[in-house]
Amino acid sequence: MEKIALLYEGKAKRIYTTTEPDLLVVDYKDDATAFNGLKKGRIANKGVLNNKISAFFFTLLAKCGVESHYVRLLSDREMLVKKLKIIPVEVVVRNYAAGSLSQRLGLKEGTPLARPVLEFYYKNDALGDPLINEDHIAVLALATPAQVGAMAKQALTVNRILTEHLKTLNLILVDYKLEFGLYQGQVLLGDEISPDTCRFWEATTGEKLDKDRFRRDLGGVEEAYQEIYRRLTGGDC
Ligand code: TMP
Ligand code: ASP
Repeated sequence: MEKIALLYEGKAKRIYTTTEPDLLVVDYKDDATAFNGLKKGRIANKGVLNNKISAFFFTLLAKCGVESHYVRLLSDREMLVKKLKIIPVEVVVRNYAAGSLSQRLGLKEGTPLARPVLEFYYKNDALGDPLINEDHIAVLALATPAQVGAMAKQALTVNRILTEHLKTLNLILVDYKLEFGLYQGQVLLGDEISPDTCRFWEATTGEKLDKDRFRRDLGGVEEAYQEIYRRLTGGDC
């Protein structure tokens, strides 16, 4: 397997084709953006940390029966993945009120939710990734009802697995965003699972250990990502 050419460059990752038509290389960058790209910056070592943290979570999920696009790590910043036809829907799962849910519903940040809340967002930068429902997904033909059902089921299974694992590390999984795609007709988990795409709070202190430190200018951003990596793996990056 050889890396061939840059296929796509996003805000946080570069994607390369390979000599295998079904496989891609994901190269994680240190660039950070927020608020649909309005805020720009860099987080030292973020690419390395998100690559390794995502690899850890995808491996844990595979052990627990949830398949993903992840194949293996290639280097500090690169992983090999299966090539998906991305479904342009972001799936957010929330266990506590935070971020846009707090703003939209007037719930104080940190309010526990009586059950996990599942949300869909239309992955469309020009529209600012609007909140959508299953009817919107159907009329825009973004996914079939069966595919929406498969995404929802997997997203909630991921929630159980990650919430339990993180609890043993004294971390709270507040919320997170997943993306899915089609691989040989199957709905498969893709993208990344990292402090860029999840909210992690220290269970005792309530300290934020995720990208909210960058979004809200709280400082200690790299240290927060390092702390997540350290708790997951017991080592430094
Ligand atoms: P929100 O509260 O801003 O809607 O974010 C919910 C979760 O989704 C949070 O864990 C961060 C993640 N997220 C992304 O991964 N990408 C995004 O573009 C946004 C807005 C949120
Ligand atoms: N995906 C968002 C953006 O740049 C970042 C975020 O808030 O996580 O634009």
